[in-house]
Amino acid sequence: MKLQIEHLSIAFSDQQVLKEFSMSIDEGEFVAIIGTSGCGKSTLLNVLAGSLSAQSGSIRVDQQEINGVSSHFAYMPQNDLLLPWATILDNVCLYGALKHQKKAAKEQALKAWKRFGLDGYESAYPHELSGGMRQRAAFLRTALCDADILLLDEPFGALDVITRNEMQDWLLQLRNDLHKTILLVTHDIEEALYLADRILILGNRPASIIRQIDLREVTKSRDWLFEQAKLKRDIHRLLQETHNDA
Ligand SMILES: Nc1ncnc2c1ncn2[C@@H]1O[C@H](COP(=O)(O)OP(=O)(O)OP(=O)(O)O)[C@@H](O)[C@H]1O
Ligand SMILES: [Mg+2]
Repeated sequence: MKLQIEHLSIAFSDQQVLKEFSMSIDEGEFVAIIGTSGCGKSTLLNVLAGSLSAQSGSIRVDQQEINGVSSHFAYMPQNDLLLPWATILDNVCLYGALKHQKKAAKEQALKAWKRFGLDGYESAYPHELSGGMRQRAAFLRTALCDADILLLDEPFGALDVITRNEMQDWLLQLRNDLHKTILLVTHDIEEALYLADRILILGNRPASIIRQIDLREVTKSRDWLFEQAKLKRDIHRLLQETHNDA
């Protein structure tokens, strides 16, 4: 589904975080957002997910205006928001349970269970898990939600590099199998280069897009490895500059 954000503005007391912010994502596209800490990435996702309301602007999915919480989005917030009183398996199957499809959701979850490193923890509670395990459970919960657009806020930040790569590949597979549209926030430049079709780099508050990189063009190039290294340096330099300007 196509997502269109137009002229979105949001402020907290005297601080303008988003001002007339616009972007769009095509159906089935994978977009990564990179930007320095505090520039407004999570705020943007919170507005899309309906947990914050914007002062002005519009959000449309396939031309239809969205106000508040919408079933088009599955949201993995930066803090995992697992329910402390529910077991890990029940947490992962939350959306299925809400739709009275708990049995099917459990079957689906348990298929991915081992790959997600959650074997033996079905009946454990969130406080009994490591930070990385909690993050994987929250990621699986979001991925299994029956929504077209995934909003992922640093979903792999707490994972070791091997597990992170495994989860990234699982996400790519899911995207290919189910044709999801994905908006991912990350601080990991290599992750963005590996996963995304397009990278948006945000400048300081109020956040605006200071550079867009369409990787579908770049991957066609014969010298992809060279291009990738160059892009990595470019993005790093841009982030350094915005950091210094803040
Ligand atoms: N609920 C809130 N009330 C007041 N200020 C807020 C609130 N949420 C975010 N902010 C402020 O808005 C700004 C942007 O925050 P946000 O969480 O969107 O940044 P971010 O780009 O996601 O940063 P990070 O990379 O560290 O996660 C920050 O200055 C933050 O203090
Ligand atoms: Mg954030």
